[in-house]
Amino acid sequence: MRPADFRSDTVTQACAAMREAMATAEVGDDVLEGDPTVRRLEEAAAAWLGKEGALFVPSGTMANQVALGAWTRPGDELICQRYAHVTTFEAGAAGFLHGVQSMTVGGDDGQLDPEEVRACLRPRFIHCPPSRLLCLEQTHNWAGGVVTPLERVAALSGVAREAGLAVHLDGARLANAVVASGIPAATWCTHADSVSLCFSKGLGAPVGSVIAGDEAFLERARLVRKRLGGWMRQAGHLAAAALFALEHRVERLAEDHALARTLAERLGAVPGLATDPEAVHTNIVMVGIEDTARDAATVAAALGEHGVLVMPMGPRRLRFVTHLGVGRDELERLVRAAELVMLG
Ligand SMILES: Cc1ncc(COP(=O)(O)O)c(C=O)c1O
Repeated sequence: MRPADFRSDTVTQACAAMREAMATAEVGDDVLEGDPTVRRLEEAAAAWLGKEGALFVPSGTMANQVALGAWTRPGDELICQRYAHVTTFEAGAAGFLHGVQSMTVGGDDGQLDPEEVRACLRPRFIHCPPSRLLCLEQTHNWAGGVVTPLERVAALSGVAREAGLAVHLDGARLANAVVASGIPAATWCTHADSVSLCFSKGLGAPVGSVIAGDEAFLERARLVRKRLGGWMRQAGHLAAAALFALEHRVERLAEDHALARTLAERLGAVPGLATDPEAVHTNIVMVGIEDTARDAATVAAALGEHGVLVMPMGPRRLRFVTHLGVGRDELERLVRAAELVMLG
């Protein structure tokens, strides 16, 4: 039997219809005359995000790094949440690739306070790095897929723009925020000057992201994408999967969100595990290990022996992610395994 895989929404595999769309995609050399399917995807994604244009790139990390490269110069500083993907999980790329350092702020809840961000702004002073970019993340991965409310996003963006900073939104899981909030993507994106969106997470494509913004931004972003080796050739086969995901997979994220809420309720009833179902906004559930005799890695390994895969996130925390590859059956297998592991 295949394992019940709750490690990430990146583990999904393309369905037959998506594979058919990929196989039959009209393609060209995107670096030479252009690829018609990539162009269709970029136009559709830009329209969905309410931006002038978008560029197709292989990954969410590259989408973020293209934005950083387009907005900054070596020696600049970006401001982001303490556990933002761009500073925590991109292997130091901001410094390695662009010579940019990060000023981080905020705590475990993944939220940024506009006044704390204002306090991070550097004075124009020869000794200080110029504050250049505010990076937001919606939904926030480390904090458990939480949605920052629109008014808060607007206030944060206002503080940054007033001070002359650009605002980048890491929208790897923006589609989850759209479905959870009922607020269109374009509304969220009015508060950002560039936005990344991933198709290979909850939307279920095998690969691909876009980075979107206005034409002046895209002109710089194209150069950075080229430098990073992210301008692909007959990429229409991949773009076809992303287009299929954007057209057919957004609304169904509501099912993942409902399953995540149930998962939190069910695991919260297992002795030794702690959850907060109210804190589950989308498809990510953080579960605390209360049993002091075992850490997260030990519990994850024990669940693995029962055919349930899950990701430790810190010494006493497990992350469960729902996606189109897990449903009610996998949830029942998980609950049974968790009871056996925690009571055993
Ligand atoms: C918030 C966020 N941004 C960016 C990324 C990077 O995406 P990729 O793994 O495609 O590089 C991830 C991946 O999980 C993410 O959670």
